[in-house]
Amino acid sequence: MLNKLVNLTKSNKETKDSIELDRSRVPNHIAIIMDGNGRWAKKRGLPRIAGHREGMKVVRKVVKHANELGVHALTLYAFSTENWKRPKPEVEFIMKLPEQFLLTYLPELIKENVQVRTIGQREGIPAYTQKAVNEAIERTKHNSGLVLNFALNYGSRYEITEAVRQLSKDVEKGTIRAEDVNEKLIGSYMMTNDIGDPELLIRTSGEIRLSNFMLWQLAYTELWFTDVYWPDFSKETLEEAILEYQRRGRRFGGV
Ligand code: FPP
Repeated sequence: MLNKLVNLTKSNKETKDSIELDRSRVPNHIAIIMDGNGRWAKKRGLPRIAGHREGMKVVRKVVKHANELGVHALTLYAFSTENWKRPKPEVEFIMKLPEQFLLTYLPELIKENVQVRTIGQREGIPAYTQKAVNEAIERTKHNSGLVLNFALNYGSRYEITEAVRQLSKDVEKGTIRAEDVNEKLIGSYMMTNDIGDPELLIRTSGEIRLSNFMLWQLAYTELWFTDVYWPDFSKETLEEAILEYQRRGRRFGGV
């Protein structure tokens, strides 16, 4: 159903096979809500964690392809502040994935000039995950290629709350005057302050909601939803999303 709706937005002549990506108009920043790992596994009679494991491999492929296409930043929703409600073994498994991912792929990411970062609440994340992530951030901080930004223990309302708290403290201290508070200033208190807002948001698995993800940053972002489960997401799916983005006219409220 969803794919049919998406297809309706394409012109009659254009299909994903017949037109090429315009490499000069690839989004600078793509954000992805990677969803459907559990259903992918269930469909195959496998435990949910098998879906997450497969999902991790897909992260690697997508990072590589996004980098090749010239995307500047890729923000991936790996674990939300709400995901703690899942069964403990599943939470533990997901929390081990960053370490496993970096153990396996960090050397390649370094070679490909990828810069690893995270957004989210550090408190609550296991020490081994923090250690792996910190090491990757440190070892890639001078890289100038794709910024691979993991949203880990991330919730947008948490981020906005923290920004307001910090801003209020600065007003209290007198370093900022209340009259000077504007959108640009608020944006500078967000965790993504130096990578800019995503031009394209992708959510997989047929769910059509934002799930507390980058609510401030997505104000003018093009949203693209697909029925594809994250473990089945491929280079082609990424290109399909970018093609659809390129077909859309972005007017930012103008005409
Ligand atoms: C949502 O699918 C997926 C997650 C909450 C975990 C996402 C994690 C990965 C894709 C791997 C991340 C890799 C690294 C390197 C951090 P779901 O479990 O909610 O799927 P369902 O809706 O079908 O149950």
